[in-house]
Amino acid sequence: MGSAAASPPLSGKLTQDELKRVAAHRAVEFVEPGMTLGLGTGSTAAHALDRLGELLRAGALPGVAGVPTSLKTEAHAARTGIPLLPLAGAGRIHLSIDGADEVDPDLNLVKGRGGSLLREKMIEGAGDRFVVIVDESKLVPRLGCTGAVPVEVVPFGAPHTLGLIRNLFDGLAGFHARLRTVPAAEGKEEEAPFVTDNGNYIVEMFFDDGIRGDLRDISDRLLRITGVVEHGMFLGMATTVIVANKDGTVAVIN
Ligand code: 5RP
Repeated sequence: MGSAAASPPLSGKLTQDELKRVAAHRAVEFVEPGMTLGLGTGSTAAHALDRLGELLRAGALPGVAGVPTSLKTEAHAARTGIPLLPLAGAGRIHLSIDGADEVDPDLNLVKGRGGSLLREKMIEGAGDRFVVIVDESKLVPRLGCTGAVPVEVVPFGAPHTLGLIRNLFDGLAGFHARLRTVPAAEGKEEEAPFVTDNGNYIVEMFFDDGIRGDLRDISDRLLRITGVVEHGMFLGMATTVIVANKDGTVAVIN
């Protein structure tokens, strides 16, 4: 893990959502007038959108605009009054702010349990600085410890691609993978595949006790599977991680 600076504790016991808000507000302090921002997706990033909207409406951040990482974020940012730009034509993205599902000691991330990993990786990978905002429950010893590692796949032949992903981890104890589904629509019996903003499906990979192999190698091998679009391991991308701790302290790790 990189160097960390901790702020003095905040008073009182905060809920997990309040911790998310604390981390988000701390990240927004990095925003300066005239910046173009990558706008993340999820409940933590939503607090950053709300705070940015407040500051914009107060006239404190002239010239700030954002590139949304999902349709949901696009709608939320528009409601809060953040001017929006498409990725193509945005020019330089100075800073992205987003949550994460997991953060390991080297600041590698799992993202995309909300389904937005592809646009997040495109936009956050294109920016100068990527600030990740989490409450301490997201800190893990190894990626894949607390739930699914998502992989976006094209719908054509998705069960075939799922099979190729399973083959990659053949024999690995505790590994399993499945297509993410959403509950059956009213009047229908079968669950439907979850569809991303890009019209793709998501394969969820589960590892007993996290991924113990070489993350870069696993990333390369996943991306070589024809049918895989992108995966939710964000390796070496975060430049700063802001952690709101249950004891009320906030750590800024670079
Ligand atoms: C969405 C993401 C989110 O950043 C991640 O799922 C964390 O979400 P939350 O802030 O709601 O805990 O990657 O694709």
